[in-house]
Amino acid sequence: MLLSILVQVLPVLALGNGLERTPGMGWNSWNQVRCYGLNENVVKAAADAIVSRGLHAKGYEYVVVDDCWQNLQRNPDGSLQANATRFPSGIKAVADYVHSKGLKFGLYGSPGTQTCAMRYDAYPGVGLGSKGHEQQDANTFAAWGVDFVKYDWCAAEQDGLTRIPAFTAMRDAIAKTGRPMTYSISEYGHEQPWLWATPIANSWRTTNDIQANWGSIAQIIQNQASLYPYSSPGAWNDPDMLQIGNGKLTAAETRSHMAMWCFLASPLKIGTDIAKLSAETLAVLANPRIIAIDQDRLGKQARRIQNDGSGVQLWLRPITTGQAFAVFNTASTTKKVTVTVPVTSGVVDGWSGSAVALVNKSFTITVAPHDTLFYTYPQTAGSTDPEPKFVLS
Ligand code: GLA
Repeated sequence: MLLSILVQVLPVLALGNGLERTPGMGWNSWNQVRCYGLNENVVKAAADAIVSRGLHAKGYEYVVVDDCWQNLQRNPDGSLQANATRFPSGIKAVADYVHSKGLKFGLYGSPGTQTCAMRYDAYPGVGLGSKGHEQQDANTFAAWGVDFVKYDWCAAEQDGLTRIPAFTAMRDAIAKTGRPMTYSISEYGHEQPWLWATPIANSWRTTNDIQANWGSIAQIIQNQASLYPYSSPGAWNDPDMLQIGNGKLTAAETRSHMAMWCFLASPLKIGTDIAKLSAETLAVLANPRIIAIDQDRLGKQARRIQNDGSGVQLWLRPITTGQAFAVFNTASTTKKVTVTVPVTSGVVDGWSGSAVALVNKSFTITVAPHDTLFYTYPQTAGSTDPEPKFVLS
């Protein structure tokens, strides 16, 4: 309680590594291949596809290898090594390949003795977590050319660890290597990391693992509504990686997943086979106006300003050029709404980029089930204009 009050009144200094001034964008292997489908060809193919399908040009730059890259035991000197069947060329060669494409390379680690896949995916192995090897592992990562470390709690309390010291130990070990590495931590939001992780990490997970279905995505969005005060440049709430392209999401659900992650100023890690994305889904991931909202330099996460029980919600995010708002239909029926804005012109429909015609500062739209439409409008700094509002029509 006291911590929560202090965090709200004191400016908390972000981790001073200067990285992730806007949320990190890229690809991570986990939602695509989980544990047993991971190998170096999958990773290299992801790097190729980010570039060839135009996503690097839109800002997606990290290629992150999640759990199950490790050999089943450490080297005699205690250092980690790659699983030779999955990564016969070794991690450094894969990182070099990723770098040769102009991209950045990320790798998974865990603070306890076990990684999560050892626990939940029956990945065999001994002592693949970094407990007691923090500096050695950070040094190995730096030597391999790692640019991004995902450090995943899993169940490290069973190894006698507690979160703040354990996550801080790897932060400090990374700093000592002298190589800039983005530090992304994960403890699923179980102990309110938004209250303590700002000085420790560049992002922290706020949820349990996302699944490739609408129920999981919708639930995560609801749980983010109170977290907007805790995000800032270099220190982001992370509602987990994208499931776009996976499962049976409708086109509307795909748009909502992308739009709401961007309004939430979330890191954007694609977790599907990019080469196989349909043109329609690729266009959602590549929409320059929704990416611009995610990447807005103010770094202010959206606030839910209307949630009146109709199933339609309005989320507002201040951006450098004014305001952005999302009209999110959580219901499974189509909704027609009239939105009133505090301006007489300058409203842009984000998905299409077209200007919106206003009548008496209002416009009427139809929002499909589970869909999200979003808009921007200019606002002068310090403006005390009223917030946008909708009524069902
Ligand atoms: C946890 C994390 C996932 C993934 C797996 C790997 O479940 O939340 O994102 O990293 O571990 O085992």
